[in-house]
Amino acid sequence: MATAPSAVIILAAGEGTRMRSTTPKVLHRIAGRSLVGHAIAAARVTQPAHLAVVVRHEREAVAAHVADIAPDAVIADQDEVKGTGRATECALDALPGELAGTVLVTYGDVPLLEGETLRRLLALHDETGSAVTVMTAHVPDPTGYGRVLRDASGDVAAIVEQKDATDEERRITEINSGIYAFDVAVLRDALRQVTTDNAQGEKYLTDVLAIVRSSGRRVTAHVVDDLWQTEGVNDRVQLAALARELNRRICERHMRAGVTIVDPATTWVDADVTIGPDAVIRPGSQLLGATTVGSYAVIGPEVTLTDTEVGERAVVRRCEADLAVIGAEATVGPYSYLRPGTVLGRKSKVGGFVETKNADIRDGAKVPHLTYCGDATVGERANIGAGTIFANYDGVAKHHTTVGKDSFVGSNTVIVAPVDIADGAYVAAGSAVTDDVDPGQIAIARGRQRNVDGWVDRTRAGTRTQASADAARDAGTRHTDTPSEGNGS
Ligand code: UD1
Ligand code: CA
Repeated sequence: MATAPSAVIILAAGEGTRMRSTTPKVLHRIAGRSLVGHAIAAARVTQPAHLAVVVRHEREAVAAHVADIAPDAVIADQDEVKGTGRATECALDALPGELAGTVLVTYGDVPLLEGETLRRLLALHDETGSAVTVMTAHVPDPTGYGRVLRDASGDVAAIVEQKDATDEERRITEINSGIYAFDVAVLRDALRQVTTDNAQGEKYLTDVLAIVRSSGRRVTAHVVDDLWQTEGVNDRVQLAALARELNRRICERHMRAGVTIVDPATTWVDADVTIGPDAVIRPGSQLLGATTVGSYAVIGPEVTLTDTEVGERAVVRRCEADLAVIGAEATVGPYSYLRPGTVLGRKSKVGGFVETKNADIRDGAKVPHLTYCGDATVGERANIGAGTIFANYDGVAKHHTTVGKDSFVGSNTVIVAPVDIADGAYVAAGSAVTDDVDPGQIAIARGRQRNVDGWVDRTRAGTRTQASADAARDAGTRHTDTPSEGNGS
């Protein structure tokens, strides 16, 4: 295997005007990572001793992002001299002076480049003892790219940019990907000789190849078949096309590892997501960020999980979860909204039109219907009735509610936090609970029912309701166990 490079240099100083965005191009995201994040991830695979990112356009935003995701990376500032050659020179100046061996140069806007491809580039560079190894590709439409010029014996002689090329050179379909391995001493020396004497007035990195050739050193091309890996993002149409292809590749990787993805075309999985074998992902689902899904779990249809952990054999249908933990064998949805800090225990249930936040819903507990459960602990096997509201916010501060294990909260209850409902307690349906409830108690906190005899006859005389009341009375219907009042005042 190839030796690790002494550095990877990622060029990211360019402008990206065609994105028409206030966000710097390399900070646009696909598959849950910034474009430069993808470049850094690929670089890492080669285990470089140093990593440098060259910045200039939107310098502060790009540098801050790189410092965040790769704190060890050297931020190299490009000066006002333009071009990929100058960018590389600025990186070498920012890296330790004693750097020796091989450096790789890649771009911050080529997100599908794989670390494995860089490793093969390095291996070929080593095997051939080359001073430069350039990654090239044969493309149907080479417009805009630098063309690879080969000599009579088929060796790479030079690269000529579109704007500097003759008509004949423009017909060449082998293009420069812009990704290279260099002997660092040769690169340093050659860059000193590169001028800005060309159509764009830039210091081209590509000029290094002809300089190295004329010094008698070897330049090799590594031709890649997978064109996606050489493609840069210049506008949002390309951004979407590369995002779709990357997603297709990610889905394929999971399917080959034993995950059923029913419809890869409508399933979006970010690069860092992990999914256990025999999990099933149903159509219209998005698994985002650092989401993990356990084996045999069933996700979807139409589920969006962000930074969420799903246990084995959980079933999650038609819902949204953000920074939540869904325990093994739990069931969620349809139409549930799990907000940050939700932790669902094993075999727990969160059902239709239930919203949770900062809620620790323990093993076997059930919150089946139409509930808001915020800032709460719900004990093992407790049951929260339909329409229960945990009123956690008093307009100033949030307060916590505890419902003890095996307790039962009746439907349409409002629990005005802070409240502590003990283990083994009941709350009657329709209660507004403001005080703690002890073990074995039932809390009933609502107006008592009163039935007023003759009210319909007096106030709704002649209506269908009164006619039905008459008929029912004639038939002898009377709920004698309900307390009633004589004449309704
Ligand atoms: C470059 C190559 C071309 C190759 C193509 C592949 C040169 C002179 N040309 O062309 O042969 O086919 O890439 O996509 O190298 N950058 C800087 N500083 C600069 C200019 C660019 O950091 O001053 C960075 C950009 O942010 C980008 C990369 O270098 O990541 C390539 O820049 P770009 O302007 O796209 O190069 P091309 O002209 O397309
Ligand atoms: Ca480009």
